Amino acid sequence: MKIELRPWRLADAPALAGLINNKKVQDNLRDGLPFPYTTAHAEQFLAQMLNACPNDVFARAIVAEGAVVGSLTAERQKNIHRYTAELGYYIGEPYWGRGITTAAVRAACAWLFANTDLVRLYAEPFARNRASCRVLEKAGFTLEGRLRQNAVKNGKREDMMLYSLLREEWGRQA
Ligand SMILES: CC(C)(COP(=O)(O)OP(=O)(O)OC[C@H]1O[C@@H](n2cnc3c(N)ncnc32)[C@H](O)[C@@H]1OP(=O)(O)O)[C@@H](O)C(=O)NCCC(=O)NCCS
Repeated sequence: MKIELRPWRLADAPALAGLINNKKVQDNLRDGLPFPYTTAHAEQFLAQMLNACPNDVFARAIVAEGAVVGSLTAERQKNIHRYTAELGYYIGEPYWGRGITTAAVRAACAWLFANTDLVRLYAEPFARNRASCRVLEKAGFTLEGRLRQNAVKNGKREDMMLYSLLREEWGRQA
């Protein structure tokens, strides 16, 4: 499916809230998101993203067939990790399983390696999140390892998988 990554607009708040106000989505993300997640929460998030330093935060709406269907963020890390960025993403449940996130992750990697000095992109899905692991594998990321009991989510200890893609690997693949 053809997708576009575009900068957020404040007017995206209702669509964004519709995507993330879903336990099945939030159960795969870090804690800290309100539930229920309202348009006002989305407006706060979007204002933060619009004010963030573009060198540190790449935040985009994932748009498919004219509709905002998801979110993708790459956050530059600090200190000695400043040439690495962590990817985070989600898609609204009605859009799962259509290849949208794989296309979005590929597009984000292409943009980031072409337009920034980042050398490493990484993501840490829960080990049980097979769809997210598969997205990263399809986008050319390498599994570096299993982070055992690296998180507690909804009161349960969770292993996480560490995936990365290096600048030169993207160059080889593109
Ligand atoms: C994980 C998520 C981003 C995947 O998005 P998506 O657009 O459905 O992903 P894609 O369609 O590009 O690819 C999904 C792949 O996972 C596979 N998959 C899905 N569920 C699976 C499962 N339970 N076991 C194994 N593979 C699975 C699909 O078959 C597909 O692989 P294929 O193309 O080889 O068949 C989406 O489900 C989501 O937003 N989930 C909630 C939030 C989340 O998990 N965010 C990621 C945090 S790290």
